[in-house]
Amino acid sequence: MSLSFTDPQPILGPATANLYTKYVRITDETELRAHILRVRAILDNNPCDYRCIKEFRFAQPRLLERPIYSIILSQRLSDPSTPRPLLDIGCCTGTDLRQLVVDGYPASELVGIDQYALFVDAGYELFRDRKTCGVRFVIGNALEEGFPRGTRLEGERFEVVHAGSVVHLLDRKQIRNFVKGVRELVRPGGWFVGGHMGASETKDFVEVSGLRHLEAPAEFKRILEEEGFVEVVVNAENRGVREGVHTMWVDFVAKVQ
Ligand SMILES: C[S@@+](CC[C@H](N)C(=O)[O-])C[C@H]1O[C@@H](n2cnc3c(N)ncnc32)[C@H](O)[C@@H]1O
Repeated sequence: MSLSFTDPQPILGPATANLYTKYVRITDETELRAHILRVRAILDNNPCDYRCIKEFRFAQPRLLERPIYSIILSQRLSDPSTPRPLLDIGCCTGTDLRQLVVDGYPASELVGIDQYALFVDAGYELFRDRKTCGVRFVIGNALEEGFPRGTRLEGERFEVVHAGSVVHLLDRKQIRNFVKGVRELVRPGGWFVGGHMGASETKDFVEVSGLRHLEAPAEFKRILEEEGFVEVVVNAENRGVREGVHTMWVDFVAKVQ
């Protein structure tokens, strides 16, 4: 069971306001609320029951809140002549990618992939940049056997691959295949980073507040290491007991040598 909000108020903090002021030139809170509600109505046509849609989080720059954000950004900005292509897997409306653009990351180095064209399309409505957006979006399934083979990302290498709130949508076997596929997309010296919900003990096929699978942080770390990532750091933050399960937010950073 998950909450379905009817008002975007909980996500309308200073960070969200700042993104829409700078990128979309919406400065009025009432107008912003109406704008986000309009886009959520488009997104409601999706076949999945994602919390990020129901709770308006698609409209919020979520990566910005994580410690890794400033590291990714400062690495790119400190050396303007070195391109650092970044891929956001499960990018949804591309909100984190637009935040990076606002903060100075070259849009031409940013790529988002999502399984639903509807989400990417709604992103153009949300950011009113269908004709001007410099970020590249790819529609593809990151869970296909052999990913990224068969997608338009095949053969590409990225300095940073990000997956926000994706791993908890997968089951154990899918996580393994997904990590394997991501490993192919990260160039030597680059990073796989992200965050998702987990639990103190792995719970497979749970339906806790709309989440499908909660991987224990230590087990996720082991999968990353077994699939060839090094310098793996996995941090967990307690998120309380939900339906009897000790949930946590799991942040991770893993390098390719
Ligand atoms: C819970 S939302 C998270 C969105 C955003 N990354 C965030 O942090 O808020 C998960 C996103 O992953 C996408 N997704 C789920 N499974 C996918 C798959 N197999 N291939 C590509 N995208 C997928 C969904 O369509 C959705 O946009």
